[in-house]
Amino acid sequence: MFVCISPNPAIDKRLRLSKLTPGRVNRAASSTAAPGGKATHVAMVLRTLGADPVWIGFYGGASGRELLEGLRLLGVRAQPIRTLQCTRLNFEIIDDDGTVTEVLEPGASPSESEIASFEETCEKQFALGTNQAIVVASGSLPPGIRNDFYAALIQRAHAHGCKLFLDTGGEALRQGLAAGPDFVKPNREEAELLTGTKIVDRASAVEAMHRLFNAGAKGVAISLGAGGVYWCPGKGLEMYFAAAIPTPVRSSVGCGDATVAAFAYAAAATYSSEETLRLAVACGAANTLAHSPGAASHEDIRRFQREVCVERLS
Ligand SMILES: Nc1ncnc2c1ncn2[C@@H]1O[C@H](COP(=O)(O)OP(=O)(O)OP(=O)(O)O)[C@@H](O)[C@H]1O
Ligand SMILES: [Mg+2]
Repeated sequence: MFVCISPNPAIDKRLRLSKLTPGRVNRAASSTAAPGGKATHVAMVLRTLGADPVWIGFYGGASGRELLEGLRLLGVRAQPIRTLQCTRLNFEIIDDDGTVTEVLEPGASPSESEIASFEETCEKQFALGTNQAIVVASGSLPPGIRNDFYAALIQRAHAHGCKLFLDTGGEALRQGLAAGPDFVKPNREEAELLTGTKIVDRASAVEAMHRLFNAGAKGVAISLGAGGVYWCPGKGLEMYFAAAIPTPVRSSVGCGDATVAAFAYAAAATYSSEETLRLAVACGAANTLAHSPGAASHEDIRRFQREVCVERLS
């Protein structure tokens, strides 16, 4: 059982145009809309992998209804919490030369009672998933939600014997780490900021992983975009690296989310370390070809899984 926690979901708008020019009228050649926000992408990829995740998120206004309808069409079960304010839009602008520019709205600020309903809904799902659910909490927090939100959620999940995988950045990650998440997957920038270690080679990546374990994480992966991914399933255990698979990238937005979904799926399916990393890298690669973030295809994932080379670091 998977529970995807989405405090700041969105509608993903992917716009294509020949060249984005600041200060000018830019007319898009095409525009697509899809359910978005990091935990939403995770739920989408889990669904594609054959799981049946429950999505918990805020929604509001016409964009919120569009988000829920999108989830319904994807077959993702939603436990939505209505907010007075509208669901945000995230814009991803892709130029003909492949340059990707993101403009992300901050998200609406939920009220105290909306936050309380959200936490109650989480609590109920954790109770339903006692001793078996993997909870994946991903993304930024909307304005007005305190930075200890994820830390408190980790405690609630653990109180029910659920595992909690956390993928966020900055202060929310720092405070979340202290609560002992079962897995974190910062990207290079997030890991460097948090650990103060510049990741330039294998030794520095290993050092950053050690620091994340010392900060409280129980499992750590650091993703380096096209530079691949480092992974260590637990403090003191073997460490692994896998290079990314070269692809004709449409956009790498959401690759980290696809990777997190893979780690969660593999943990539930008790994959071996090698199988886990194969799936993680394959999902990241498949996401680069998707028509929108999180929409990696099953065929691409299966095809790429065979191509991943896992190295054990010792
Ligand atoms: N250009 C790329 N080509 C192939 N694989 C990629 C590429 N970018 C990312 N990936 C795969 O996806 C994984 C995660 O990507 P990345 O490090 O960019 O995550 P992220 O910054 O957290 O992304 P996001 O937060 O937008 O989901 C990488 O470790 C790699 O396996
Ligand atoms: Mg990320």
